[in-house]
Amino acid sequence: MMADTPGKDALRMRTLTVLGSTGSIGTNTLDVVRRNSHLYRVYALAAGNNSERLAAQIAEFRPAVAVVATSDCLSRLTEYLDASGLPRRDWPELVCGPEALVRIAGAPEIDTVISAIVGVAGLPATYEAILRGKRVGLANKEVLVSAGCLVMQAVREHGAELVPVDSEHNGAHQCLRAGNRQAVSKLILTASGGPFRNTPREALPFVTPGEALNHPTWKMGSRITIDSATLMNKGFEVIEACWLFDFPPSQVDVVIHPQSSVHAMIEYTDGSVLAQICATDMRMPIQYALTYPERAEAPVPKIDWASARQWEFLPPDFVKFPLLKLAYQCQEAGGSATCTLNAADEIAVEAFLQGRIGYLAIAEVVEETLARIPSRTPRSVGDILDVDRESRASARERVTARAAGTVTV
Ligand SMILES: NC(=O)c1ccc[n+]([C@@H]2O[C@H](COP(=O)([O-])OP(=O)(O)OC[C@H]3O[C@@H](n4cnc5c(N)ncnc54)[C@H](OP(=O)(O)O)[C@@H]3O)[C@@H](O)[C@H]2O)c1
Repeated sequence: MMADTPGKDALRMRTLTVLGSTGSIGTNTLDVVRRNSHLYRVYALAAGNNSERLAAQIAEFRPAVAVVATSDCLSRLTEYLDASGLPRRDWPELVCGPEALVRIAGAPEIDTVISAIVGVAGLPATYEAILRGKRVGLANKEVLVSAGCLVMQAVREHGAELVPVDSEHNGAHQCLRAGNRQAVSKLILTASGGPFRNTPREALPFVTPGEALNHPTWKMGSRITIDSATLMNKGFEVIEACWLFDFPPSQVDVVIHPQSSVHAMIEYTDGSVLAQICATDMRMPIQYALTYPERAEAPVPKIDWASARQWEFLPPDFVKFPLLKLAYQCQEAGGSATCTLNAADEIAVEAFLQGRIGYLAIAEVVEETLARIPSRTPRSVGDILDVDRESRASARERVTARAAGTVTV
């Protein structure tokens, strides 16, 4: 038997907390669990506002604890559970708020956390899981974009295992297992190019949220989908890759690959390139994060090599997509610049989705916010959350100024 394909018995049982269970990554995670219920036990599920979906997940997966964002969500969750017919004696403990997220992420009952809350709201709980030495399947990219230095230091000090779920980093993680890290000259992340890859720059001021949400290859939450349309998402991934694999930004390249089948490539010093290829389905990296260092049967159909296919690779357009370049610059600058980058982008994306600003103004709001918030060295998660708050407030002002037509750059 080959080294990487041990018997099924080598796969260990895992007890999970799923942060963001009602989202795109969360529901895919629960599908992986559903397909391998002999391998996984769900200890806790955490959602934001979608009490209806959470109630259905509780009825199916029977966690010990369920968390929602607010007391209103908790009341609605109770109503949905009543309506579901699940006897009260089978209900989990029901709680709400950020402290509850931290508690279920660090609970002694679990060994693994899937971190799939969107935004910096997922940071304190993910950090707690790391402090408790858990395995963290990390989907939430804002954790490393906002607090990479602190998070990676905590991983080293507390023996936590950070296994990336983002498909590109998951691909890189797999490629890096093949050779000596010292012999790697480049990490190459692929990008689909988003829905506006072929849209002329002159047409970009007029694109709508609906068009931007129409991602060509991935079905994801709305924030990451808009970030994919501006290539901000790829910029975040460059930052994430620098932290995860200890590369300077100059050693991380982006290549446009519209088919999204090759997820990442590693170039070794001798010019050999290894690529990680698999079905375009997030259940692949999620399952890997749960089974690593072992492998389990594919959760989705494998690539069919009998049917013809064509794969393209193109350089990114840094002029048309300025947020990608800005991400490199923020990571080079260090300090809290990447935290501001993420916070400002989140506000700008929200404003774009609400129709308050146009597509091109997303990058402008982010640039203006970065120019107004001085970078500093955060020493704690509290410091990060302070920078995040300050940056959001500044970005909101920039949005308001634009919406009122009184922009001064
Ligand atoms: N989707 C992908 O394919 C993909 C790929 C790579 C990386 N990621 C990253 O993974 C993360 C999740 O992405 P997604 O696409 O799954 O997003 P999504 O579909 O929008 O789901 C976000 C999840 O976070 C929950 N949530 C939001 N605010 C919360 C709060 N304050 N407290 C508790 N829960 C909260 C939401 O709950 P409710 O829905 O109940 O409000 C939902 O369960 C993001 O950081 C994204 O960048 C996603």
